[in-house]
Parts: sequence; C-alpha cells; structure tokens
Amino acid sequence: MPMAELQTAFDFPELHRKGSRQPAVICVGGGKGGIGKTLLTANLGICFARSGIKVVLLDADLGGSNLHTTLGMDLPDISLSDFVQRRVERLEDTIVDSGVEGLGLISGAQDFLGSANIKYTQKMRVLKRILKIDCDLVIMDLGSGTSFNVLDFFLVADLGLVMLVPEPTSLENSYRFIKSAFYRLLKHRETSRPILKLLDDAMESCNEMGIRTPYDLIRVVARLDPERGDVYRSLMLEFRPLLVVNQVRTPEDAELGMAVRTACRKYFGIDLDYLGSIDFDDSVWQAVRRRSVLLEHDPESAFSRSVWKIAGTIARRLRHIERPSGWLF
Ligand SMILES: Nc1ncnc2c1ncn2[C@@H]1O[C@H](COP(=O)(O)OP(=O)(O)OP(=O)(O)O)[C@@H](O)[C@H]1O
Ligand SMILES: [Mg+2]
Repeated sequence: MPMAELQTAFDFPELHRKGSRQPAVICVGGGKGGIGKTLLTANLGICFARSGIKVVLLDADLGGSNLHTTLGMDLPDISLSDFVQRRVERLEDTIVDSGVEGLGLISGAQDFLGSANIKYTQKMRVLKRILKIDCDLVIMDLGSGTSFNVLDFFLVADLGLVMLVPEPTSLENSYRFIKSAFYRLLKHRETSRPILKLLDDAMESCNEMGIRTPYDLIRVVARLDPERGDVYRSLMLEFRPLLVVNQVRTPEDAELGMAVRTACRKYFGIDLDYLGSIDFDDSVWQAVRRRSVLLEHDPESAFSRSVWKIAGTIARRLRHIERPSGWLF
C-alpha cells in the first residue's frame, strides 16, 4: 500500500481524555535486550506523527539510551538528565525536534543515570510530569530487564507493549517481565506490611510458600484475606499487556503470540492481547547501519507494513481510554 493510502487507512480521533489535556501514554518493553523495542518505538512514533497527531518519544532506557540514533539523529544537547538534575525546570524543555513533523524526542540520560541510580523521588517526578506533557501521545522506549525502574515506567502507561522474539530465552524473559510487572503493580497498591513482605518473597522463584505464578499468589492472599484476594483478582483482570512478536521468519513464529497468550491465561491468570507480529526483514538492520529510519525510506517493506498495522490497532485501543493515565497515580 503506498504511503498516502496507509496514512489515511486509519485516523486518530481525539486522543486526549475527556475534559483533560493529558496525553495518552504507551510504552514498549519486554524482558530481553536487542529484540527491537527501540526500533518499534521510533517507527511507531513516525506512524502516529505522520497521521497528524502530536507525539513525544521518551527514551526511558536509563543507562542504554539510543533512541536518537535509531531516529538517525545525533546525540541531542539536552536530555532527561537535565530535568532529573534540575538543570531545567520543565520536562517539556528537554524535548528536541526529531526532524519529522509532529514528532519530538526526549533523549535518554547519558551521564549519571544508570538505571540503578535514579532515586525513587526523581523517578516519580519524571513519571508524573510525563502525564502533563503538552502533546497527544507519549511513547516510551524501555530498557531491558525487570528492575523496578523499568517496571514503573511500564506501569505508568495506558497501554504497555511487551515485545518478544521467537527464541526460548526471549520467551522466558517475557514471562518473567509480565509476572514482575504484575507483582510490582500489586506492591504499588498494597499498604499492609505482611502482605508486602509476601509479595517480595513471591518474587523469589524458589520461595518457601510454593508461589510460582500470580495465580498461586492470589490463592495464598485470598486465604489470608478474602477481600484482598478479590481486589487482586480484579487488578489481574485489568492488567492487560499487549504482546508483539518481532523477527518472525515462519508462520509458526507468528503463532507464538497466541501460544503465549494461552499459556499466560492458563498458568498466570493474566489475559494478554496479542497485537500482532513483525517480520524479520534484512532491510531493518541495513537501515540501522545506515542510520536511516526504515518507515520513512522504505514504507513498502514488510517491516513498515507490520508497524503501520500495529499502529492502527493501537489507535483503536486508545479510543477506549477515558480514565486518567496510569496505574501508579
Ligand atoms: N524485524 C527485524 N528484522 C531484522 N532485524 C531486526 C528486526 N527487529 C530488530 N532487528 C535488529 O535488532 C537490533 C536491535 O534492535 P533494538 O535496538 O530496537 O533492540 P532493543 O530491544 O531496543 O535492545 P536494547 O534492550 O539493548 O535497547 C536492530 O538494530 C536490528 O539490527
Ligand atoms: Mg533499546
């Protein structure tokens, strides 16, 4: 489909929530490194910006930020560090022009901000201000792993994408990521000390209580406190990460999304949505080497088509978001 047709294939109505100027927030995560999170973030940003809405990309890969490179940009002079270190007062002041109309970038921290180093209060200040950026949509690129910092950025989003590639290590990491994000959500909502302790213990894979899955956890909590068990169950129903399978080479690879969805529902009790797959495409890594953005330079490629399709599905989901953003606040 030519670019012009693709652009009009779906439109983005009012993305702001009713009566609010808060942007919609999505993020791209997944437990493993090198699986295409940054590529998808950059290219999704272009899809949405090309469709006429105001987008800000935020490089939340603290310690490994490279979203600017994926967008073909030099390292900007200003970054998230400047806001965190209070060298600038407003998060908006760290937005730089990406060169694509309607697409701004908040570049990742280059200096002190290894993911382990950002303090809790600094992080919460960033998360709160993300929801106040004057734009229609914020898309955040997350780092790999399941550190609290990664999970908290994931949880602040309206839609959290979990990427995986068809490899056993990636599968394992994505299950761990989904489980960890859910436990982290429960921790944010929990105030009882003994239950908080139980949540920490449950994260240990060989815990004495035999809790291996979110299902097990809820069973144990409901035994201790039935009402709390009900609250946890409803949080579980609301928690719906969106799965994207990248680097698909065979039809079986693409079916992995449904298999993971089924396994998550059966063993975790968590209902994922399978958003779609992206083909492995040699032109992707070739574009990366050239520092060019594939969606711009080859909109007909298999990769570009898949990304446009995923953007369309996301746009339809965003229409249904009416409540204020995020799980955390
Ligand atoms: N669909 C694809 N087809 C071909 N190559 C791909 C595809 N997706 C990703 N790649 C390759 O994977 C590399 C890593 O992608 P990317 O930097 O987006 O991963 P990441 O998940 O952000 O990694 P990190 O966690 O280290 O930041 C790309 O530079 C590209 O070479
Ligand atoms: Mg990355």
